[in-house]
Amino acid sequence: MAIEATTHERISVTINGVTYDKEVPVRMHLVDFIRQEIGLTGTHVGCEQGVCGACTIEVNGEAVRSCLMFAVQVDGAQITTIEGVGPAPGQLGPIQESFRDHHALQCGFCTPGMVITAKSLLEFNASPSEDEIREAISGNICRCTGYKNIVAAVGDAAERVRVIQPSNGHR
Ligand code: FES
Ligand code: FES
Repeated sequence: MAIEATTHERISVTINGVTYDKEVPVRMHLVDFIRQEIGLTGTHVGCEQGVCGACTIEVNGEAVRSCLMFAVQVDGAQITTIEGVGPAPGQLGPIQESFRDHHALQCGFCTPGMVITAKSLLEFNASPSEDEIREAISGNICRCTGYKNIVAAVGDAAERVRVIQPSNGHR
């Protein structure tokens, strides 16, 4: 008797507060699902092999590389992409404002992944040292800025987030 391979599965996933029920190919990468199926193209695709960090998003509060996951793995998960980082659509959150104010981007290709990585760091550590910031973003490659302004932006963002959410960050 022939064994039929499963080619699609139905998943339910909440992205930036909106729940989507979708049938997806079992081999579709999460980053492609987010960009092509959901239409959230702020998450960028660089190396497609877990090296550059451009595709970083939060899954259940943890920063992950969406090019290394399949869409079917996030069934039931809560996801935040760069489009969900601000307080409302079209508005910047404190980390994004800090990146803008410190000129922490040039071409912007790495920026969504950098901002999500910074968000994830600050949720865990409200007052990171420069070394801790550098370590946190060490998996995010920027070919433009030289990192100095990004490190300054994340440090300043920590201060801005502490003002808005004084209880944020537990170690
Ligand atoms: Fe995912 Fe580079 S595209 S790490
Ligand atoms: Fe161009 Fe970082 S701003 S890659």
